[in-house]
Amino acid sequence: MTFESKNANNSSTDQDKPDPDFFSNMLERLAGSKGNLIPLLQCAQGIYGYLPAEIIKLISAHTGHSLSTIYGVASFYSQFRLYPAGKLIIRVCHGTACHVQNANAIGQALQDELRIGDGCTTEDRIFTLETVACLGCCSLAPVMMIGDETFGNLTPAGAVKVVREIRKREGGAG
Ligand code: FES
Repeated sequence: MTFESKNANNSSTDQDKPDPDFFSNMLERLAGSKGNLIPLLQCAQGIYGYLPAEIIKLISAHTGHSLSTIYGVASFYSQFRLYPAGKLIIRVCHGTACHVQNANAIGQALQDELRIGDGCTTEDRIFTLETVACLGCCSLAPVMMIGDETFGNLTPAGAVKVVREIRKREGGAG
């Protein structure tokens, strides 16, 4: 198993996050406009970490988009989350290189270990499990990221071991 630091493209800082005032201003500017729905959703998710129902209602009221349209867009794009995420996001790569190296078995082993489905968060709110496309380090396939760390050359048992160690470190339920 290989352990690597997260690359710079995946890091985020507080400076990357839009603040609530910016979001309010953006909503005001777009009042009555149906344009720019996706940037608005991105902005809201940057602030709240997901798209709370009350914020979706607010966006609907300000832009004139129906709730079903907004939920349709939010569900279509994997970048959007309708529920709060766990403290750490586990991203299991299912890109081509990882897929041929048994990424499905890794994803399944993690679902069994965490007792959650893809896109869901554990009860202790430590992990959210996500399936993603190429993480950009195909030579390490199969790969997953947990928070800022990248783990490559995984086996299902190895992936479960990593998750157990991190959960222990985070003081979560065993
Ligand atoms: S396909 Fe998994 S890292 Fe590229």
